[in-house]
Amino acid sequence: MGVDHRPRFHLLPREGWTNDPIGPIFWGGRYHLFHQANPEGAFWARPHWGHFASADLVHWEHLPIAMSPTQDGVDADGCYSGCIVDHDGVATMYYTGVRGAVGPAQQQATCVATSTDPDLRVWAKYPGNPVTVPPVGYDLLGFRDPFVWRDGDRWRQLVGSGIAGRGGALFLYASTDLRSWTFLGPALIGDGRAQGEDWTALMWECPALLPFGAPDGGGSVLLVSLHDETRTHYPVAMLGSFDGREFVPHRMQRMDFGPDYYAPCVMVDARGRRICWGWAWEARAAGTQGVAGWAGVLTLPRVLTDHGGRLGVEPLDELRRLRSTRLPVTAEPCADGWRAAGAGGDTIEVLVDIAPVDGPVGVRVRCSPDGAERTEITYDRARAVLRVDRDHASLDPGALGGVYEGPLALGAEPLRLRVFVDRSLVEVYANGVTVATLRIYPSRPDSLGVEVFGPGGDPPVTRFEAYRMGSVFDPPGARPVTR
Ligand code: FRU
Repeated sequence: MGVDHRPRFHLLPREGWTNDPIGPIFWGGRYHLFHQANPEGAFWARPHWGHFASADLVHWEHLPIAMSPTQDGVDADGCYSGCIVDHDGVATMYYTGVRGAVGPAQQQATCVATSTDPDLRVWAKYPGNPVTVPPVGYDLLGFRDPFVWRDGDRWRQLVGSGIAGRGGALFLYASTDLRSWTFLGPALIGDGRAQGEDWTALMWECPALLPFGAPDGGGSVLLVSLHDETRTHYPVAMLGSFDGREFVPHRMQRMDFGPDYYAPCVMVDARGRRICWGWAWEARAAGTQGVAGWAGVLTLPRVLTDHGGRLGVEPLDELRRLRSTRLPVTAEPCADGWRAAGAGGDTIEVLVDIAPVDGPVGVRVRCSPDGAERTEITYDRARAVLRVDRDHASLDPGALGGVYEGPLALGAEPLRLRVFVDRSLVEVYANGVTVATLRIYPSRPDSLGVEVFGPGGDPPVTRFEAYRMGSVFDPPGARPVTR
């Protein structure tokens, strides 16, 4: 029997392709989350808006495609990413209408649609679309992913872009009626020549601007996903200030140091929490993906916090409701630590705290009994680095490997890991500040083990808990009633 790689407690449609999560909004008593979708197959093409709804942010329902391209329309070749705002009781969607094949001649422009359906299933496109077209006088690499928000008595729109030979760019617009927009200029232009940690590519996708730190002084965090003409890279968060016209970045950090995380979007909930979803793409051969019939998954909802002036991140508290069983654990010695017999599985959450000690410590998940398959998470306190290693995650040569490192300076603090393993998706959260998303495709049905390791085979573990997780689409006895 083959190994099932389809995640169970993460969001993905029944079939077809998924990329960016978009348009999260609380509406009519439920949360709605949309995503870029190709219902025709497990490959990117002609994006639509797929749709999920939830009463509790944890258990979700599949809803039909909410927005589709119109033949011969300004969005004939795709309804790309965007956002949804509440315009005096009317749900108002901003998306990028795309016409023409991918390439320099393709037209990208902001379009509007509205819904008065309490379930947000039915949307009417504004006949005057598009409402915002690219500014003249720039050699642009793209113009997409509108982010719209209310700023006092005006609305503002930021559009992701890039200027050839110069760097990523965000263009800013203002409106009072959400239809007619005035161009205010670039809110920020990146330096495409910067290298190393300051590298920001040539094109910025999926912008989001949120209050952060001291909002009275314009304290804000700007999220952008870095793209260049050929590749999708990773999202960054820029902490800085916004004065209504320009964003001035003070510091920048990666949002996730794993290889498979992109296009985060954020909803601020009634409690003021910044809840963030991202896209985890596949890391296996396109052929296998086609056979599976699905590709792409959304990451768990994460709360973005102010972690002493840095952007911190924690899994949403309510995710505890996904735990179905606490797994009994017996420690059995293995080469450099112990195997948590009883705690294994392919849909589990593992919590491990390890006291400070000299030498690398960590956890392995999805280990085969002989260790031939394993995914390793290591904390190197001396280097203040957290590492995820999927070089041995799979014996399938079509599954990507790689070792990835992110900063984690703990001083005298214990390591606190929370690891979510959902078949082919692993999310690692450490100490409220460092997070990594990676896809793995173990080939053996017995690659289910969990191990803890450390110096002398005796890691100073102060907490170990493991839970089997339920399905995000299958709340026992609590499925929302729908039409
Ligand atoms: C990011 C992105 C967006 C675009 C969408 C198209 O992954 O390229 O810029 O709107 O995907 O599906």
